[in-house]
Amino acid sequence: MATVTIRNVWKYYNQTPAVKDLNLTCPDGSFVSILGPSGCGKSSTMRMLAGLEHISAGDILFDDVRINDLAPKDRDVAMVFENYALYPHKTVFENIANPLRLRKASEATIKDRVNGAAKLLEISHLLDRRPSELSGGQKQRVAIGRAIVREPKLFLFDEPIAHLDAKLRAHMRGEIKHLQKTLGTTMIYVTHDQLEALSMADYIAVMHDGELQQWGTPSEIFNHPVNAWVAGFVGEPAMNFVTAEIRGGGDGVTLKHANFEIPLLASQVGKLNGAAQAGTARMGVRPDALTISMTRPDGPAITGVIFVNELLGGDMLVEVQLQDVRMRVKTSTDFAGKPGETCWLTVNREKWHVFDAGDGHAYF
Ligand SMILES: Nc1ncnc2c1ncn2[C@@H]1O[C@H](COP(=O)(O)OP(=O)(O)OP(=O)(O)O)[C@@H](O)[C@H]1O
Ligand SMILES: [Mg+2]
Repeated sequence: MATVTIRNVWKYYNQTPAVKDLNLTCPDGSFVSILGPSGCGKSSTMRMLAGLEHISAGDILFDDVRINDLAPKDRDVAMVFENYALYPHKTVFENIANPLRLRKASEATIKDRVNGAAKLLEISHLLDRRPSELSGGQKQRVAIGRAIVREPKLFLFDEPIAHLDAKLRAHMRGEIKHLQKTLGTTMIYVTHDQLEALSMADYIAVMHDGELQQWGTPSEIFNHPVNAWVAGFVGEPAMNFVTAEIRGGGDGVTLKHANFEIPLLASQVGKLNGAAQAGTARMGVRPDALTISMTRPDGPAITGVIFVNELLGGDMLVEVQLQDVRMRVKTSTDFAGKPGETCWLTVNREKWHVFDAGDGHAYF
């Protein structure tokens, strides 16, 4: 187990930065997810941690030891990639045993650890098979087994379940999380899937364009995004954004738009600075922080016209057309409104957000 500290780390390929001044501290025994879209620098970060890529600037420490110049084999980390690279001609047992054989472990240790890992991963009955006789999910477990038997200080998992079907992915999310908690080994887990990060991690590092956007628990990232980019990336269906004008001052501040005028709560007024109060801002509301009704409700509401209704299993998603944008609202499947009809949306103002119209940082 180890605390991993990434300090002012940069990665350049030729002259182009892929990771920009990254700072992270992953506590000992924690499950940390690096989350971001394709090309944001996730794998580059992992490869620097594993020693497969030179660190252009900055330091990486495992506990208090700087590991920049350690060879991969001396770092005591185990990686699992999306492409699990099993040896096709070896049995499952021998695939899992491979790192121990390379280390010249005793036959008794090998048997013990391989059987232990297989039991944990529920693949004991597959030990005599070859990879071609396994499903994708089973192959992935073998790759994870091969990482476990090394009993490393740190697990680095890079999109290990991205190619599995949705149902198996949901299953493996639980399995991997349970495994990490059972073993207690620090885990850094890369994904572009916000649901994976939210459901598995103790802490999430959200990256965009090589830069860390936010570090926090899943609930902090989801409920208190620091900027509009994080707010829009995390959550499905995605947050609604509407550009509106900030009106008034003192206690009477409202957000004004052609389709609504909604006052800020008293506790929120102070969070806007003077600059924001002069002009426009972006309102952010998640689909489940809106309530739709077909009659005008009491209190401030957004008027619009129903564009389309989509059934999402246990919920209904309704798209509502305003003058310049569409908003999505989550409601129940017995919702009776039809496309073309006028409706009203009430905002749960305990859960809405206002972002700066320029750089997108969150006022609240
Ligand atoms: N060996 C390389 N040489 C040059 N550029 C590279 C190299 N590896 C990665 N890059 C570039 O660095 C940036 C970050 O790549 P990286 O692989 O870290 O992204 P990622 O977040 O893992 O993306 P994905 O989700 O697609 O795997 C990209 O713009 C990529 O094109
Ligand atoms: Mg990658």
